[in-house]
Amino acid sequence: MIPSATLQDFLRSRRSVRRFRPDPVDSQVVERILTTAIQAASAHNRQPWRFAVVVDPSVKDTLATAMASAYEQDLIADGMSSSARAAALERARSHVLCAPLVVILCMDLSDMDAYADEKRMNAERVMAVQSVANAGTTILLSAHAEGLGAVWNCAPLFAADAVSRTLKLPRSWNPQAMLLVGYPSKESVRRSRRPLREVTLYR
Ligand SMILES: Cc1cc2nc3c(=O)[nH]c(=O)nc-3n(C[C@H](O)[C@H](O)[C@H](O)COP(=O)(O)O)c2cc1C
Repeated sequence: MIPSATLQDFLRSRRSVRRFRPDPVDSQVVERILTTAIQAASAHNRQPWRFAVVVDPSVKDTLATAMASAYEQDLIADGMSSSARAAALERARSHVLCAPLVVILCMDLSDMDAYADEKRMNAERVMAVQSVANAGTTILLSAHAEGLGAVWNCAPLFAADAVSRTLKLPRSWNPQAMLLVGYPSKESVRRSRRPLREVTLYR
């Protein structure tokens, strides 16, 4: 067994990484990371997570362009100037293109329970979202264990149709997020945390 203090230190040392070296991530490493991810806890053990793995640069490029185009519609609706828009879109595209490995984290509600009332349907949906997020967090930590860096990116949530169409995802796969993964090109910044006492109650 790994000593608890060592493991706690490791878990606490994960940081979001947004800039990567161009080196590819070996397919066996990808397999290991996802094999660990599917050990995450899930509501009723229904495992609603689905993973669309993108490593092909041309697919990545098409995906980045499709998401940028959906993003642009939102920025136009926000009234953003065309120069500010161009900068934001370029930034968004470069984030995706810079990552050798992109995992689109999807949710499939097919196996979740169905109820007649809205309240329980909503609770069931939230449980599926929470379960998928567990798998996402496990990917971040598993990538960290492999010496990789990763960041959670929410863009697919705002461009779900564009992602589904571009990647020809099964109809029941609902894009929730993407995890950008690769070997870090620089040391990542340590972001602050609220003190534990501020976010915890004991009763
Ligand atoms: C649900 C969720 C959505 C996030 N979306 C983005 C995002 O779209 N772009 C980004 O750069 N980081 C995103 N992040 C990463 C957070 O900014 C990051 O985890 C937070 O600032 C703490 O930094 P750390 O991960 O380095 O500790 C997201 C994280 C979560 C959990």
